[in-house]
Amino acid sequence: MSAQRPVFPEIDPDEVSSNSSGNRSFREVVETRLSRRDALRGGTAAAAGFLVAAGAGSAAAAPAATTTGTTAAGSAAPAAGRGGHGGRRLLGFEPVPVSDTDEFTVPSGYETQVLIPWGTPIRPGGPTWRKDASNSAADQERQVGMNHDGMHFFPLGRGREGNERGLLVLNHEYVDQTLLFPDGDEEMTAEKVAKALAAHGVSVVEIERRRGEWRVVDSRRARRVTGATPVEFSGPVRGSHPRLRSNNEPMGTLNNCSSGATPWGTYLTCEENWNNYFATEDASWEPTEEHARYGVTNEGGGFRWHLADPRFDLAANPNEPNRFGWIVEIDPNNPDARPVKRTALGRFKHEGCTVTESRGRVVAYTGDDQDGDYIYKFVGDGQWRLQRLMGRSPLDHGTLYVARFEDDGTGTWLPLKHGTGALIRENGWADQADVLLRTRQAADAVGATKMDRPEWISVNPKNHDVYCTLTNGSGWENGGVNPRTPNPYGHIIRWTEHRRDHTATTFAWDIFLLAGDPAYDDRVELDPNSVFGSPDGLWFDDDGRLWIQTDVSNSSQHLAERGYDNIGNNQMLAADPETGEVRRFLTGPRGCEITGVTATPDQRTLFVNVQHPGESTVAFGEPTPDDPRVVSNWPDFDPEGRPRSATVAIRRRDGGIIGA
Ligand code: FEO
Ligand code: CA
Ligand code: CA
Ligand code: CA
Repeated sequence: MSAQRPVFPEIDPDEVSSNSSGNRSFREVVETRLSRRDALRGGTAAAAGFLVAAGAGSAAAAPAATTTGTTAAGSAAPAAGRGGHGGRRLLGFEPVPVSDTDEFTVPSGYETQVLIPWGTPIRPGGPTWRKDASNSAADQERQVGMNHDGMHFFPLGRGREGNERGLLVLNHEYVDQTLLFPDGDEEMTAEKVAKALAAHGVSVVEIERRRGEWRVVDSRRARRVTGATPVEFSGPVRGSHPRLRSNNEPMGTLNNCSSGATPWGTYLTCEENWNNYFATEDASWEPTEEHARYGVTNEGGGFRWHLADPRFDLAANPNEPNRFGWIVEIDPNNPDARPVKRTALGRFKHEGCTVTESRGRVVAYTGDDQDGDYIYKFVGDGQWRLQRLMGRSPLDHGTLYVARFEDDGTGTWLPLKHGTGALIRENGWADQADVLLRTRQAADAVGATKMDRPEWISVNPKNHDVYCTLTNGSGWENGGVNPRTPNPYGHIIRWTEHRRDHTATTFAWDIFLLAGDPAYDDRVELDPNSVFGSPDGLWFDDDGRLWIQTDVSNSSQHLAERGYDNIGNNQMLAADPETGEVRRFLTGPRGCEITGVTATPDQRTLFVNVQHPGESTVAFGEPTPDDPRVVSNWPDFDPEGRPRSATVAIRRRDGGIIGA
């Protein structure tokens, strides 16, 4: 560590808040609790945990007291496990060092296989990938999309067979138009919009493992859902709702970030930054309060599809944006079933949707990933099995809540229910459909707590604690929305629902860890084997290992002025939720983020996505149509090719459980 402490870095200004409500920020709430942590530190590194027992006065069990201790700084040797798992060590691999190379690295004893890169035919015999990006829109509709994100493995066949064969279902969050078209996107055409739409959405591919290798096999279930696939609406905002009336049939899902899976075997894909696709050249178009809250502007997010397709022109088709911002249910086993937008789960920038259950009722956690936005959960009415027997979707009937965090370590789930609290006719709320179409404003009105960009949420299978990544925050307005202002590195929070019942309306909360580099912030208790920033993907495996994936912005990666010079390319780590130990498991190639993780039921193959390798990165340069390989040429390294998002299948050479 340098003798002279660097100045604490500023936040990358790539994400700004649209939340001008007077609601309390998480920073204010957490400040008192962090000062407790300093008292706890008392010079004993081993007991350095600041995870104070939560919930004085709450009947909820507090999250287990932990430490955030990791391996000794500078040592490559893993620290001894701290027990808590019947003496068994949860993390058994050698951590990998940070990396700035154009490689995907894993610990010794592990092997990798690149699967389904962008452009792979979803059925063998489909249109072949062309490395100059000259595949047509029609080709792209039959190929794996771009920018792989949330993902789930649905095993096929009985018992052990399901470890070797299954449906891999994954999101394609957005497209890099420099890499997608041979000549880039300076000129926008209808064909280009069609290809971009076809590269979005979801892929369903059937894969099997034969002679030690995973491969795509022909399957009647193989399918693409794109930005142009016909869809249905269900729940309180019905398809016939006047605010969903548009000049075209309801179609498409866009900006599919993270995902979820239901206990009844369907896939949930989540629409995040959908506002970026809409724009207009019409000077008379004026944004409403709702547009401002959702970030809908005349300029859009740079896709410029509105120049060639009136569907994306805000003035020509003003209701089309109302069809986005939802959770979408897809039945991977029925390629003919239309995707259904489940409106009861609200409309915002859904990062993911983590489904669990308590007392037979379905509960879905979902974060709104924008600076200063909120954490939500949906609790289904009645037993989900009975709902299904009655022919109803368990996701259509229930209550949507938003989280409020209090100083004393407790919290409350506030219902977003028309006719209750502030959400009444007198205040301009017409009905439940209105509440759901304007979920962000409804949450403002009930007094939710502003958060530092809520990303993934995962439930510890061992004790039902709920964990959530807050990727980073700018510290806007009254000093920020976090324990740190600004908060360029993010942190991970967790909470325990009252009586560990996910349907409860109160909880006890805590901070699991602060991400970042101790060279810039001595509150951070990570070391060279675990230093990371901007946590995003978050997933518990069945043993209770917590996997953390990072999405450091390409305008921050490797830059000292952003405090990211010691953190390397984006990465995935594993944490022990009981001991707080963290180890780096893999690093990605240049310009990518690591996102999306799922495993075979036996946990012996882990699937991880590499998204946007080769994207424009301040530290490495800017790709052009003439040289798309400036930043990365992963995974093909073809001198005439281009970087491609892909899934990586990770196995242990000895066939053991990943991470153990
Ligand atoms: Fe799509 Fe919030 O990451
Ligand atoms: Ca994400
Ligand atoms: Ca990203
Ligand atoms: Ca992210």
